[in-house]
Amino acid sequence: MNIIFLGPPGAGKGTQAQRICDALKIPQISTGDILRRAIKDGTETGLKAKSFIDAGKLVPDEVIIDIVKERLAMDDCKGGYILDGFPRTVPQAEALSTFATIDSVIELAVDDQVLVDRLSGRRVCLKCGATYHVSMLNGKTTCDKCGEELIQRDDDKAETVLNRLQVYHAQTAPLIGYYGQKGLLKTIPGDQGIDGIFTAIMNALGAKA
Ligand code: AP5
Ligand code: ZN
Repeated sequence: MNIIFLGPPGAGKGTQAQRICDALKIPQISTGDILRRAIKDGTETGLKAKSFIDAGKLVPDEVIIDIVKERLAMDDCKGGYILDGFPRTVPQAEALSTFATIDSVIELAVDDQVLVDRLSGRRVCLKCGATYHVSMLNGKTTCDKCGEELIQRDDDKAETVLNRLQVYHAQTAPLIGYYGQKGLLKTIPGDQGIDGIFTAIMNALGAKA
């Protein structure tokens, strides 16, 4: 099954994509994680992407489309995948349709006020991509899965978060209508507990937990 996760920053796309991917045994393709790793490794893509990400803006379509096209051509994507954070603009969605067939688009819907709180408390592991909220860490500063030190993302600072929300509403939200018209969209309320959302997504996908 080829699945897209759509939703504003902090909606829980990464959190749920990781769980659903574990359950369905398919890879999670997070363009945000790919770009952050490229920045950490100092690659050419990373250098191009850094100023956009730090400002809360989208990386140019031509940079990200080629990365995703290459990634989806890899062997581990043959049995399905979750695209987490791509497409984010209508041109990206149109490009995607030339090299992939999408079966389902899961939209996680959450109000802006909740998103600001979630993002300001988020801590991430740059090594394995795991995501936590300070309220669940009880003072712990390392990753449960791999032991790496957790960090706060630079783009989770308050002023950048507001930019990212504006960018979402202007450039990414039109994809809700785009995929709705194609009959692929399933909207899940994202302001409930993590387990409840997981079950709702599995049901929407017609998959067994
Ligand atoms: P990206 O990394 O994709 O960021 P994003 O879309 O802004 O999404 P987030 O990772 O912030 O949120 P999420 O929905 O995954 O939430 P999470 O599960 O972490 O992109 C970063 C940047 O890269 C972009 O701004 C852009 O510059 C660039 N980029 C990436 N893709 C691009 C593209 N296609 N085109 C152009 N540019 C691109 O959860 C958030 C927090 O809430 C966590 O702390 C979590 O523990 C907590 N939480 C999750 N679920 C719940 C719940 N149900 N209840 C309570 N807390 C919860
Ligand atoms: Zn980790």
